[in-house]
Amino acid sequence: MLREFDERIVTKDAKDEDKDIEVGLRPKMLNEYIGQDKVKEKLKIFIEAALQRNESLDHVLLYGPPGLGKTTLSTIIANEMNVNIRVTSGPAIERPGDLAAILTNLSDNDVLFIDEIHRLNRSVEEVLYPAMEDFALDIIIGKGPSARSIRLDLNRFTLIGATTRAGQLTSPLRDRFGVICKLELYDTNMLKRIIKRSADILKVYIDDGGAKEIALRSRGTPRIANRLLKRVRDYSQVRANGSITEDVAKNALDLLEIDSLGLDNVDKRMIEVMIENFGGGPVGLDTLAASTGEERSTIEDVYEPYLLQIGFINRTPRGRVVLEKGYKHFNIPYNKE
Ligand SMILES: Nc1ncnc2c1ncn2[C@@H]1O[C@H](COP(=O)(O)OP(=O)(O)OP(=O)(O)O)[C@@H](O)[C@H]1O
Ligand SMILES: [Mg+2]
Repeated sequence: MLREFDERIVTKDAKDEDKDIEVGLRPKMLNEYIGQDKVKEKLKIFIEAALQRNESLDHVLLYGPPGLGKTTLSTIIANEMNVNIRVTSGPAIERPGDLAAILTNLSDNDVLFIDEIHRLNRSVEEVLYPAMEDFALDIIIGKGPSARSIRLDLNRFTLIGATTRAGQLTSPLRDRFGVICKLELYDTNMLKRIIKRSADILKVYIDDGGAKEIALRSRGTPRIANRLLKRVRDYSQVRANGSITEDVAKNALDLLEIDSLGLDNVDKRMIEVMIENFGGGPVGLDTLAASTGEERSTIEDVYEPYLLQIGFINRTPRGRVVLEKGYKHFNIPYNKE
C-alpha cells in the first residue's frame, strides 16, 4: 500500500525529483505567492507592523494538506522580514539539548522553521514553551539535591511551525502561536496562474487551454501542478513542438494515466468501497480506513480534502457520504433522492 502511494505521480509528498525543480520555482516574496489571499493579507499586516516597530514577528503556525506551500511561505516570511531562516523538523530534533543548541544560535528576529511540528518529542516541546513565551531557556545544572535551574536569555525570534495536522498539536503549544494560518486547496484559476508562472520560469510556452488542463488534474495542489507541468513539457519536447497546448497537455496526461480530475486508484477504490459496501454511506473514518487498507490520517489529510473540494463526497456527523457527482464520474448509477 505504502509502495503504491509512493509511486503515485499525483502524490502530494515531495519526491526527489521535485526538490530540484522546487528550488527554482519557489516564490521568494509575498507578491509572487499566488492565491491564499486571506493568509497573505493577514501576514502582510503583521509583517509590516513588526517591521515598523523593529520587532520580531509573532510566532506563526501554518497548517494544511501537503504541497500547498507551507515551506515556501516560511522562507517568504523570513525574506520579507529580512532575517535569516533556520530550517529543521520535528522528528529531527531528538533531545532537548538539540533544540537548546539551535535556539542559542539564533540572531535577533531570526526565523526558526520547524516542519512537521506535531512530531516533536514531548521533552523537546517543553523546552519550546518558555522559549516561545519569554525567549528564555531553563537549564538544569547538576544532579540530585544540589541540582538547580538557571534561566538563559535568548535573542527574540519567530517560530514558524508547519503541520498537516493542527489537531495533533498539544494545546499548550498551539496556544503559544500568535498567528495561525490555514492553507486551503487551490482552485483551478489559481493553479492556472501558478502553472503559467512556472512555465515562464522554465521557459516553455503554454497557452490558456494547456494550463487549464494541467490545473484540472492537479488536485488543488501546486506541488502536483509543477510536477505535471514538467512531465507535459517532456512529452511536448519529444512528441510535439515543445509548446503546451490543450491537446498536447491532454495527450500527455492521458498517456500518464492521470484521470481528468487527477484521481487515482486509491480515490477510485475509496469511492467504490463506499458505494458498493456501504450503499454510498454514511461511512465512519475508521471503517473506511479498514476497508481500503489506507491509514486514517492519510485519508483525512490527503484524499478527503480533494474529494470534498470537487464535491464527490460530503462529511456528515454520521460519516462520509458519496454525492451524485462521485457516482457519475465512475459511471455508477445514482438512485437516491
Ligand atoms: N502560492 C504559491 N504560488 C506559487 N507556487 C507555489 C505556491 N505554493 C506552493 N508553490 C509551489 O509548490 C511547491 C511545494 O510547496 P511547499 O514545498 O512549500 O509545500 P509544503 O506545504 O511545504 O508541503 P509539505 O507539507 O509536503 O512540506 C513549491 O516548490 C512551490 O514552487
Ligand atoms: Mg514543506
